[in-house]
Amino acid sequence: MTFELNSIQLDSINIAYVDEGDGECVVFLHGFPLSHSMWASQIQEFSKTHRVIAPDLRGHGATSVTQGTVTMQDMAHDVAKLLKALDITSPVTLCGLSMGGYVAWEFWRLHQELLGRLVLCDTRSIADSEEVARGRHMMAAQVIQAGAQMAADSMPMKLLGEKAKTHLEVVESIRSMILGTDPQGIAATQRGMAERIDMTSQLAQVEVPTLVLCGAEDAISPPEEMQQFATAMPNAKFVEIANAGHLAPLEQPSATNEAIRSFLEST
Ligand code: MLT
Repeated sequence: MTFELNSIQLDSINIAYVDEGDGECVVFLHGFPLSHSMWASQIQEFSKTHRVIAPDLRGHGATSVTQGTVTMQDMAHDVAKLLKALDITSPVTLCGLSMGGYVAWEFWRLHQELLGRLVLCDTRSIADSEEVARGRHMMAAQVIQAGAQMAADSMPMKLLGEKAKTHLEVVESIRSMILGTDPQGIAATQRGMAERIDMTSQLAQVEVPTLVLCGAEDAISPPEEMQQFATAMPNAKFVEIANAGHLAPLEQPSATNEAIRSFLEST
C-alpha cells in the first residue's frame, strides 16, 4: 500500500506528507526512526471517513534533515505549521506512536488550540534516565560513522512482538524504513529525545479525550507503565492490543483500527 506523497516548503524545511480523505482531521505521527509508511493500514482505513494527514517528521523519510539536535518541540511546531499551511484550523485528533507520542505531548503543551483528541500508542510519559540519554548520544555518534545499517539490523527484533518477528515482510518493511532515514536525521533525533521533558507532573492537566493504546508484548513502553500514566489523566482510556509489541498499529492493524474507530465514535 502506497499513498501519494505531497511536499510543502515551510520556512527552512521541506515536509513530506500524505493527505488522504475528507472530513474531520486525524493526524498520524510515526515512531523513530521510521516514516509515515508505518501507518499504511490506518491511512487506508481512516481516510474512508476522515481527512488523514501523515507527515514524515523532520529528519525522517522524505522530509528535510537538519543537523545538530532536533527536539520534540521542533517537531510539534513543524506539525502545527503544516496544519496551518493546509488550512486545517479545527482541532484535530493527534495519534502518535512512541516518538510520535513524545511529539504529541509537546503539541498538547504548545498548540492546544489545534488539539481535539489524543491517541497515544506505545509511548512513554517519563523522560530518559541519564543512562538512556547517554546511550542515545552513543548511538548518534555510531550512526554518523557507520550509517543506518546498524540500526536496521538491530532494531526490528526489539520493536516487534513474537508473532510479527516471524513475518518476514513486516521485518523487511521496518528495515527499509530505517534504511530510508538519513544518519544525520537519526543522530539529531536521538539527541532531541534525550532532552525531552518528563510529562508526569502535567498528566492531570491533559483534559482532552485520550486513548492510550499498547501492545501486550511492548518491552520498550510496557503495558503496566502506559496504564499507569493513563490512570493519571482525567479523560484517558487504556486499551491493550494482544499479540503485538512496540508497533501495535503495524503488527495488529485490525484490532488497533477497531480501538481507534470506537474511540472516535464515542468521544
Ligand atoms: C520509537 O519507537 O519511536 C522509539 O522507541 C522512541 C525512543 O527511542 O524512545
